[in-house]
Amino acid sequence: MSPFILDVIYLIASITFVIGLKMLGHPETARRGNLIAAFGMVLAIIGTVALHEGAVSPLIYGLIFGAILLGTIVGWLTAMKVQMTKMPELVSLFNGMGGACAALISLLEYQHNLGNNMAISVILAGLVIGSVSFSGSMVAFAKLNGSMKGAIRLPKYNILNTAVMIGLVIYAVFILMTGASMLHVYLLFFASLIYGVLFVIPIGGADMPVVISLLNSFTGLAAAFAGFLYGNQVMLTGGILVGSAGTILTLVMCKAMNRPLSNVIFGAFGAAGAAAAGSDEGKTVKEVSPSDLAVLMNYSKKVIIVPGYGLAVAQAQHVIHELESLLEERGVEVTYAIHPVAGRMPGHMNVLLAESNVPYEKLKEMEDVNSEFANTDVVLVVGANDVVNPAAKDDPSSPIYGMPILEVLDAKTIIVNKRSMKPGYAGIQNQLFFHEKTSMFFGDAKKALTDLVTEIKQL
Ligand code: TAP
Repeated sequence: MSPFILDVIYLIASITFVIGLKMLGHPETARRGNLIAAFGMVLAIIGTVALHEGAVSPLIYGLIFGAILLGTIVGWLTAMKVQMTKMPELVSLFNGMGGACAALISLLEYQHNLGNNMAISVILAGLVIGSVSFSGSMVAFAKLNGSMKGAIRLPKYNILNTAVMIGLVIYAVFILMTGASMLHVYLLFFASLIYGVLFVIPIGGADMPVVISLLNSFTGLAAAFAGFLYGNQVMLTGGILVGSAGTILTLVMCKAMNRPLSNVIFGAFGAAGAAAAGSDEGKTVKEVSPSDLAVLMNYSKKVIIVPGYGLAVAQAQHVIHELESLLEERGVEVTYAIHPVAGRMPGHMNVLLAESNVPYEKLKEMEDVNSEFANTDVVLVVGANDVVNPAAKDDPSSPIYGMPILEVLDAKTIIVNKRSMKPGYAGIQNQLFFHEKTSMFFGDAKKALTDLVTEIKQL
């Protein structure tokens, strides 16, 4: 009876994963989707532990519940405390743990399955992929939190990495064919860990979100192998969903930046390109004061706000909503233009603005909003840089050349809020700031927008 009940539980859990994933696709349903999928996971864990066939010693139960308790506390506290801008590094850390679990399962199961070549192939594949995902994610985490700086490129690193990867495959086949001892399995494990490090160190910090998403798909694959090994449907479904979602997300990000995945992995984005992207020597920028900007915006008909990473850093999502509501009360039409890679993770701006209850219909996607700039009085760019950089359109030597951008230059007036003339993520200067239609509104986004709101209220 219990295997049947367990199958039903796994089926329900798998369905909740699919529904949850679907609901994550829209800001309005995302939270509920997350909860539904988490409920499915809890159900699957309880079912697996409670309906397990065969004797399990109290010590093992103690270890299982101890690990669940510890994981829940650490996971809960970290998730509650983490700032939105730190989300990619948290995802990277959690993803690394998934990879490590898959690798450990392989290490444990190797000897139990000797003689069964199908099982050993799955175990070795899970071991290599899980280990690469674990060590790669740890490097990505270190790069994102700043403890590891820049891209480390060993001489001929592309050739070296390809050779190590081929070496890993050959070694795994050797282990499979010979039924080699655990020593070889451990060596394969360590070699895979090293490959994970070699794979990620040459990639610039700027590309880490894409790398994390790719590693996420590796972890999914490794978990799916473990699910296959145990004949555990929910693990298999979960792994496949994570693997395919990670792959789709990786490709979506690459498409939004108009760069092939090979360019992310082997390219030198954000480093060498800085010099090529136009110098600002001898050029001056215009500045606007909060009071002049207040008058300009108050008497505009149509304003488009372009949020970027700086808005998230400054936590200015609430004051920007206040500004938008204030202007709307005074008859100004206000919308937001959302670039698909604005910020540091997919949907970053949508999540941020949803936090301050900006109505979803006010958020316009790039393809829909680009034609609207031509009849817009004021574009207010807040903490965004690369996503409005015209070099992407007209400078073939720029590292972001070809990336679709928000065409803010079509508007009558462009106001850019940032703290300095420093470049953004791609490390390149932005000629938009020097354009005759542009005025800089310098300052931390929260402080500058608060001053602007105060001025508008006084009009
Ligand atoms: P960025 O180009 O990174 O520019 C952000 C700007 O915000 C900076 O120039 C910075 O200038 C300003 N800033 C920082 N803190 C601020 C504060 N407290 N107040 C006001 N301004 C502040 O951002 P973006 O335009 O959103 O572009 C995103 C970049 O990330 C793109 O290059 C994209 O390819 C990359 N990327 C994104 C993703 C996803 S999925 N979103 C994934 C991978 C890569 P100051 O220092 O002068 O203030």
